[in-house]
Amino acid sequence: MKTLIILLFVIKLISAKPTSIVLWHGMGDTCCVSFSLGGIKLFLEKKIPGVYVNSLRIGNSTVEDFENGYFMNPNKQVDYVCEQLASDPELKDGFNAIGFSQGSQFLRAVVQRCGHILPPIKNLITLGGQHQGVYGLPHCGALMYPTCDYIRQLLNYAAYDSWVQDTLVQATYWHDPLDEEAYINKSIFLADINNEIRVNKTYIENLNNLEHLVLVKFDNDTIVQPRETEWFGFYEPGQAKKIVPLNETRIYLEDRLGFKKMQKEGKLVLISIEGDHLRFSDTWFVETIIKPYLLN
Ligand SMILES: *[C@@H]1O[C@H](CO)[C@@H](O)[C@H](O)[C@H]1NC(C)=O
Ligand SMILES: *[C@@H]1O[C@H](CO)[C@@H](O)[C@H](O)[C@H]1NC(C)=O
Ligand SMILES: *[C@@H]1O[C@H](CO)[C@@H](O)[C@H](O)[C@H]1NC(C)=O
Ligand SMILES: *[C@@H]1O[C@H](CO)[C@@H](O)[C@H](O)[C@H]1NC(C)=O
Ligand SMILES: *[C@@H]1O[C@H](CO)[C@@H](O)[C@H](O)[C@H]1NC(C)=O
Repeated sequence: MKTLIILLFVIKLISAKPTSIVLWHGMGDTCCVSFSLGGIKLFLEKKIPGVYVNSLRIGNSTVEDFENGYFMNPNKQVDYVCEQLASDPELKDGFNAIGFSQGSQFLRAVVQRCGHILPPIKNLITLGGQHQGVYGLPHCGALMYPTCDYIRQLLNYAAYDSWVQDTLVQATYWHDPLDEEAYINKSIFLADINNEIRVNKTYIENLNNLEHLVLVKFDNDTIVQPRETEWFGFYEPGQAKKIVPLNETRIYLEDRLGFKKMQKEGKLVLISIEGDHLRFSDTWFVETIIKPYLLN
């Protein structure tokens, strides 16, 4: 009997196709060039033989993909991605998802808004995501975008104006701790997916259906401010110095995203790594992300 079980297990191992993977790149980045996510895709394909990797391109070309990271309303990006994922036959048995930087909160929005109409999303891994938003834009994107200073100024002075919300992606996750109410009232994206305005039960259920939500924080991040947002921490409301950890935020205390249950079930995983934004070694990635979460 025991031999039979082992034999069946071995057969399953050799016949099973690895779980597909979806990637969503960050601001100032694109789906496919070799020195960024194209390189990660190749790396995954090498380390997990036979795996299918869909590195999301938002738009009809790489140039559009790059521009859309700044200028396409995230609600529309999320709808677009939900459609892409629903119609990708390689994902029909379920998939794992990895978000890079702002791609983190966008993929989380995909899970929350479309999880119930997509094949099972097993693990969502976010690398340097801005889950509670940002207050500041110290370094504006991996490639220094010429309009960076303009964007920074717009965010400082008019992030919550409706035309800025509609035209500038980063404004939709701008979180001003000195004016929480304006953030909650006016952010057209992040305040909604964080259930700050009202609690959408579907969001909670869909997040809970993940096997794991893995949040990776870069301890010496100089791009994301504050870096604790990568673990759902943020400035305590009313000032911009003291940071509260996830378990002391309104989202956690009022259980707006169902984190208490996820924590109890071991589904919420917080990982930190020394280094700047999205800087990690191949070995770290294999040991910390691939082996525990992508070989299912
Ligand atoms: C792709 O091109 C079509 C046709 O030009 C256009 O309608 C659509 O908006 C484009 N998609 C995106 C996401 O930009
Ligand atoms: C809650 O989210 C689901 C999934 O996106 C959506 O269909 C529904 O309309 C939302 N409910 C409310 C009250 O906004
Ligand atoms: C937020 O919305 C509430 C209810 O609509 C309103 O009373 C309040 O003045 C708004 N606050 C800000 C800062 O916009
Ligand atoms: C990175 O941050 C950690 C935690 O704050 C700190 O202990 C470490 O010294 C920093 N490393 C570098 C290279 O700055
Ligand atoms: C929150 O978590 C930290 C460790 O991450 C712990 O020191 C602190 O006591 C916790 N606070 C609450 C209110 O549970």
